[in-house]
Amino acid sequence: MTTANTAAASTNVATDATEALENSASAMANIATNTIETIEAAESRRFSSRFPLNSSFIFTFGALGGMLFGFDTGIISGASPLIESDFGLSVSQTGFITSSVLIGSCAGALSIGALSDKFGRKKLLIVSAILFLIGSGMCATATGFLMMVAARIILGLAVGAASALTPAYLAELAPKERRGSLSTLFQLMITFGILLAYASNLGFLGHNLLGARDWRWMLGSALVPAALLLIGGIMLPESPRYLVNKGDERNAFKVLTLIRKDVDQAQVQLELDEIKAVAAQDTKGGVRELFRIARPALVAAIGIMLFQQLVGINSVIYFLPQVFIKGFGFPEADAIWVSVGIGVVNFVSTIVATMIMDKFPRKGMLIFGSIVMTVSLAILAVMNFVGDVAVLAVPTMILIAFYILGFAVSWGPIAWVLIGEIFPLSVRGIGSSFGSAANWLGNFIVSQFFLVLLDAFGNNVGGPFAIFGVFAALSIPFVLRFVPETKGKSLEEIEQEISRH
Ligand code: BGC
Repeated sequence: MTTANTAAASTNVATDATEALENSASAMANIATNTIETIEAAESRRFSSRFPLNSSFIFTFGALGGMLFGFDTGIISGASPLIESDFGLSVSQTGFITSSVLIGSCAGALSIGALSDKFGRKKLLIVSAILFLIGSGMCATATGFLMMVAARIILGLAVGAASALTPAYLAELAPKERRGSLSTLFQLMITFGILLAYASNLGFLGHNLLGARDWRWMLGSALVPAALLLIGGIMLPESPRYLVNKGDERNAFKVLTLIRKDVDQAQVQLELDEIKAVAAQDTKGGVRELFRIARPALVAAIGIMLFQQLVGINSVIYFLPQVFIKGFGFPEADAIWVSVGIGVVNFVSTIVATMIMDKFPRKGMLIFGSIVMTVSLAILAVMNFVGDVAVLAVPTMILIAFYILGFAVSWGPIAWVLIGEIFPLSVRGIGSSFGSAANWLGNFIVSQFFLVLLDAFGNNVGGPFAIFGVFAALSIPFVLRFVPETKGKSLEEIEQEISRH
């Protein structure tokens, strides 16, 4: 099968599956609504007045979708060669198993936005947890290529949905002074999920426990965080801003009181009044409204998300072992350890990002990250073109670590933070859907073409890295011209400023 045929087949499968799943997502949202209402009714006043949750629980569980995002995208690098030999697949079939999750994610992100503006963030987080459970269970028990592709598309829908829902949910719960750091928890969970996936790849490789193949354990281990997300989702409060938009001020006040334990009721009331005032000016939402009232936000969100991918981050996250095997002749086990090292740098740098996110302007951090990435990619490219490849493995590793650090303290978290905060309330769900879908589209393009590019440059990593370096440089004028500064402002202030543009 040619790449074009594979891509066409992928698109058809994805379109059919998306339509079917969009309908079932809506049905599941209804079921979730009924289930939650039943639980809340059964727990009656106890549930709302003596809610046993504190805000760390709420933010950690709220961000858990990020961990599944990282895990499900990271796990396949180790599992796919094993599945390929077990099922006797062709190279293009294996490639499709990897990329089908990205197609599903794009569809999941696009279809969830309107539903989340209608049904609320919480219910759809529960729906995505259920999809994570179904997808992970099917992956672990897949009997052949088609079942595996179906499972990966379902997982993709869940990943895409979580990636559009979580940033808006976290931004809507956080107080403005800490919104950057708390929203960065989503990216922290993504990087943790990637690291767990690498660890699970290493841990299960060659261990066919209880008679089941190693790759089944690798993929099946995602059931644990998926179950946690489901439990967390049932216990999490709905977003107060969504509740205000639906006219449920009483519960919005309750949730705000619950998550603002450090301030008094008068301040909670002030925050609620500000939310109500802006919500009152809002229109009823929908795609047309998104294009009418939120065009500057949409341009910023889509651009940020495309650049986040076109700087080539996933050439490293998904394909690093292959780069070191093909480019520098590393044995497979050593190459996997290189990627574990990079996973650690990614995770630790994101912890730093969480700590500094509310101290520096977001735009300044984005530009800093772009400069670090441009410089490291440029040196990498020149070095690999003019130097002797035999001695370049270690300097390449060090430069890739700098590049990852540049990404992890800036574009990694900030892209997701921004799509949660720059859209007006009435179109926030659908707006972050578009932003998130752009991210998955960019991811799909890079993942599809990276190995082809590497091959076209005779396995010299200088080629693809030079192209990514150009995008990293171009991202600087984009940020200066199109991205609004959001640090320290309330979502309502951001909304007023953006609509004045
Ligand atoms: C990106 C992912 C990437 C991850 C790496 C995220 O912000 O959206 O595509 O794999 O960062 O840490």
